[in-house]
Amino acid sequence: MTMQRIAVMTSGGDAPGMNAAIRAVVRTATAQNVEVYGIRQAYSGLLSGDLERMTSRDVSGIIQRGGTVLQTARNLEFKTPQGQKRGLRRLNEHGIEGMVVIGGDGSLRGALSLHKMGFPVIGVPGSIDNDIWGTNTSIGVDTALNTILDAVDKLRDTASSHERCFLLEVMGRNCGYLATVGGILGGAEFVMVPEYPTTLEEIGKVLEHAYMVGKSHAMGIIAEGATPTTNEIADYLKSHEIGFEVRVTVLGHVVRGGSPSAFDRLLATRLGVAATQRLLAGESGVMVGLHGRDIGVVSLEDATSKQRAVAEEYVHIASLLS
Ligand code: ADP
Ligand code: F6P
Ligand code: MG
Repeated sequence: MTMQRIAVMTSGGDAPGMNAAIRAVVRTATAQNVEVYGIRQAYSGLLSGDLERMTSRDVSGIIQRGGTVLQTARNLEFKTPQGQKRGLRRLNEHGIEGMVVIGGDGSLRGALSLHKMGFPVIGVPGSIDNDIWGTNTSIGVDTALNTILDAVDKLRDTASSHERCFLLEVMGRNCGYLATVGGILGGAEFVMVPEYPTTLEEIGKVLEHAYMVGKSHAMGIIAEGATPTTNEIADYLKSHEIGFEVRVTVLGHVVRGGSPSAFDRLLATRLGVAATQRLLAGESGVMVGLHGRDIGVVSLEDATSKQRAVAEEYVHIASLLS
């Protein structure tokens, strides 16, 4: 028997393009006469039974919107076996036979727990961090990078006008992808990421050199999870007279917002379609992802147990071209 009713949720940190993925899931299922329920606020809404039927019309006009119309949440209870059993009970109460979970590594771990209890589930990688194993990139990464580059370009205008060094902190608690690629594409003098620690002395030398060779400004991009921290770097540079005046900008959640780029809309759409098709075809326990130019799958077990750090190649290029 084919499925009659499935659910979709977005979970973890929101990412631009999640709405495009929701739309793709709803329309793909609806085209096959399968009902879709949207679960609000991720696993929190699952546990409280906060879900509602979504028709094709309900997802009109959302492909260009950032954030997630289903909202998202972080829910500790769902990390426990008891919470997971309660979640499955809710799904059964509502006659839901399968689910697409759009989110980061933690959200996909939640999806895996449902699969392990025999509930059909497919994961879609959505996170600006690009820290999910088993896909070239995730929904939101491209838009976040474009936001960072917009900030870098603007900061450079004011930095060179005043002969200043800007330290720009971007999101990325455990993964330095955004800082590194933002640094390469924005022409930063140095990048700092959690994966490859650097010393304050090394950073000081790089910036002193930039000043002495006559650069009009300098830029360092720092992932929020890096050590030393942005403030430690700023204090060190201010007390060591590197030549440039130093200013700090923390981009914070600005990086997560905004209308998704063309790339993210297409990626999210393709992933949403593929996830739904596979779910309705009877697959479970996998995450769809971008493999080369094609959409492929890996097991949720692999996607959530393997580590994905920023490629050493990128870190090398960032320092080579600085
Ligand atoms: P992200 O999905 O962006 O990595 P989190 O790590 O905060 O974000 O995870 C989002 C939510 O997924 C958590 O709040 C929790 O409800 C659920 N989750 C995370 N880890 C697990 C786990 N090991 N088992 C079950 N659910 C989990
Ligand atoms: O995982 C996405 C992310 O934006 C990280 O880059 C960041 O460390 C974290 O979420 C911030 O979480 P919150 O939105 O709960 O402050
Ligand atoms: Mg995560």
